Amino acid sequence: MSTRLPLAENPAGAPLRALAKRLADSNIQQLLADDPERAQRYSAEGAGLTLDYAKHWLDDESLSALLDLARAAGLESARGELLSGAPLNNTEARPALHTLLRATSAPAGCEDKFAEVEAVRQQMRQLVEALHNGERVSFAGKTFTDVVNIGIGGSDLGPRLVTDALQPWQGKIRAHYVANIDPADLEQTLASLDPSTTLLLICSKSFRTEETRVNGLSARQWLLDGGATPENVGDNCLAITTNLEAAAQFGIPAENCLPLWDWVGGRFSVWSAIGLSTAIAIGWDAFQDFLGGARAMDAHFAETPLAGNLPVLMSLLEVWYTNFHNAGNHVVLPYSHQLGLLPAFMQQLTMESNGKRVDCAGQALAENSAPVLWGESGTRGQHSFHQHLHQGTWLCPVDFILPLTADTSLQDQQHRLVAHCLAQSRALMIGRDLEQSLASLRERGVEEDRAMELAPHLVMSGNRPSSVLTMDKLTPETLGALLALYEHRTFCSGVLWGLNSFDQWGVELGKDIGAQVLAMMKGEGEAASDPATDRLLARWRAAEGG
Ligand code: F6P
Repeated sequence: MSTRLPLAENPAGAPLRALAKRLADSNIQQLLADDPERAQRYSAEGAGLTLDYAKHWLDDESLSALLDLARAAGLESARGELLSGAPLNNTEARPALHTLLRATSAPAGCEDKFAEVEAVRQQMRQLVEALHNGERVSFAGKTFTDVVNIGIGGSDLGPRLVTDALQPWQGKIRAHYVANIDPADLEQTLASLDPSTTLLLICSKSFRTEETRVNGLSARQWLLDGGATPENVGDNCLAITTNLEAAAQFGIPAENCLPLWDWVGGRFSVWSAIGLSTAIAIGWDAFQDFLGGARAMDAHFAETPLAGNLPVLMSLLEVWYTNFHNAGNHVVLPYSHQLGLLPAFMQQLTMESNGKRVDCAGQALAENSAPVLWGESGTRGQHSFHQHLHQGTWLCPVDFILPLTADTSLQDQQHRLVAHCLAQSRALMIGRDLEQSLASLRERGVEEDRAMELAPHLVMSGNRPSSVLTMDKLTPETLGALLALYEHRTFCSGVLWGLNSFDQWGVELGKDIGAQVLAMMKGEGEAASDPATDRLLARWRAAEGG
């Protein structure tokens, strides 16, 4: 792997600092007015997606300086390394080959891995077809009506999102998702299901995750209580994991396991057998189309020069606002009810990947890394936090994501949705000055004195940046392209920051302490504690009546 250059050491960063000041003082509306071609020039397309980025604090000089930053960071060679399977995950000495999961041929040197991917794809396909045509039946000899995916993090968020987003492709077997260790999650999900027609997928790359193991055991017991025997309970259980040994210890034999590989990061794994619940729910053909959309985005990412490359441009915008304008957060607003789970998926993708404090060599970063990502589907967010977007004091760059059309008999509602999305992006840009605020109050018949008092409260500074990412329609293909786009954007930003996007050491300590606290709750041995934790434990004991 080539050496990474942290942002603070990137020589192309210096000119951007001066440009950032000038651009923050510029006016987006004016930039659009000054250049009749701007809206068209600040637009890029790939794999069925179009990014409109004219409403940003950008001009040709700053854009060109950002592209220089990317080149100086070695983004082009890093992209080649990612796609060819170089061991970019240096702390775990592995490649990050999620692109292989949707490929139709192997890059040189990855032929063996690709053969394994293809074998698992066939296994998945046969399974999906056998479930759909009733060849594979439950312990009770019945066809399956429901599948419950038990997993968390990357073993949950991706398949949950895709199944939800592609609900119109839903076939006869419904998928459900259980992630939380809170018993309410499992209990509420199983309450409406019949054990004799429900297939459990225990989905865990490591098969060591507490939540998944505990929920898996409880769900297995539910099958036994529902008529299965220890001998036939396996008919209703499959595991998806790299750890066949742990799955066997759990009681799922190798023939009921679909393998995964350590070179697939959990948050990049929806394309693998981790997506089995989705493939079962939407059918094999639609799942293939989903992979095909991602493959088209991979080709766009691989082949398009940086200046027209969607993941690169979106990453440069992320770095521009995070590091040169101190934004600290990034908002994702899908104007699509079906993409309502996208912000949750993207939180793991971006913050688990790039929420890091050291570079690839373990040196402390002198620049901020991943901003906090948050969001909600439009128009729900409008009646919740858009007040903050329009008048709050923090800079909140927004990605609006908009499927332009939808197959619905309620076309008027669909048109209103589109109108709201475009309006929100425009309102962030144009804002409302004092004069306009006064005029609006006068129009409403507010008395002059009162109008003068109220007007400052109506003022919106405007000039707030946003991108609009559109697709003709949300389909398996465009959804695949969308998720792959954000995967690659995440990788590009990691390269620009000089960090490893593919490990997650920061989650370990909490898991260890969780085990220690549980031991204290059970009175098993002494563990390091502190007065604040002790006090909370005492309150728990009291609430338990102990
Ligand atoms: O704790 C974080 C994490 O390791 C994520 O990276 C991962 O997606 C999730 O837990 C679930 O892990 P597994 O699939 O191994 O159960």
